[in-house]
Amino acid sequence: MPFQRQIDSASHAINNSFFDYYQHLVNCFDQSSNHSTFASHLFDPAHIIDSTYDAICYMIAYGWQHYQSMQHLLHNTIDVTSEIQHSIRLIDYGSGQGIATLAFMDYLAQNRVASTTALEVHLIEPSKISVGIAVLLIKKLAKVHGIAVSIHCQICTLGQASLPSPSTNKETFHLLSNIIDMHTVHEVIAELALQMKSCSNQNFLLATSHNTLDAQVGYHILRQEMDFVDHSYEDFRNVTCPVYDFDKLSWTSTTFKQRALIMQWGTS
Ligand SMILES: C[S@@+](CC[C@H](N)C(=O)[O-])C[C@H]1O[C@@H](n2cnc3c(N)ncnc32)[C@H](O)[C@@H]1O
Repeated sequence: MPFQRQIDSASHAINNSFFDYYQHLVNCFDQSSNHSTFASHLFDPAHIIDSTYDAICYMIAYGWQHYQSMQHLLHNTIDVTSEIQHSIRLIDYGSGQGIATLAFMDYLAQNRVASTTALEVHLIEPSKISVGIAVLLIKKLAKVHGIAVSIHCQICTLGQASLPSPSTNKETFHLLSNIIDMHTVHEVIAELALQMKSCSNQNFLLATSHNTLDAQVGYHILRQEMDFVDHSYEDFRNVTCPVYDFDKLSWTSTTFKQRALIMQWGTS
């Protein structure tokens, strides 16, 4: 099956959650005869995906891990039921295929507040192919959960992006999923922090990544530049999860150290 058809077909399989997409995509990939090996450039977080085949490989290799990391953070830090928000703004920095946003949408549904919440999603990502897939999946999942969603895309690097103008009536979630280890991101954190500071109302920043040396540098800069926040704490854990072995075309298990940072600021 052509690669775009595999993505479309997997998106049609979404009936409950992101996992439907993921599972269907893996099954298509398993059964397909036209795959080559996993390209080594996909190990580089800064690589900008420029082919549909690489987008599929990326999703199979990392999608489930990245989704689970964001879900874990949300379940442990954010209570969306205590004071139900009818309008939420979500900014997904270096969104790739929107995995962090999809985890957030499933989180709303798991807490039974999906249909009462309008979601304004901002995707900032230099890969046009990844953004196209993100928009497809967000629209599909929004339909399944009954979420009123508006999507705004900036197909560019974070250095070129401008944050949406401050909103007075919406909580804003800033999602940094697996981008804090990139040097190009380190270089623009100070500028981003300035823009984030001007976001009024209640703000939450959720950053998650493997606990690598580069990520530690990123978290350090983030803490320094975001010295205006009201609350901040870090979360460390060992995560064991299934990963797909592209050489053996089968599943294996891996354990990695996950590090996360949660921040809160603004007026409630
Ligand atoms: C490891 S992926 C993470 C993608 C997604 N957030 C996730 O959790 O699956 C890193 C993403 O950052 C994007 N990227 C690379 N350089 C960037 C930059 N300078 N500014 C913003 N995004 C960038 C890549 O295209 C890629 O989608």
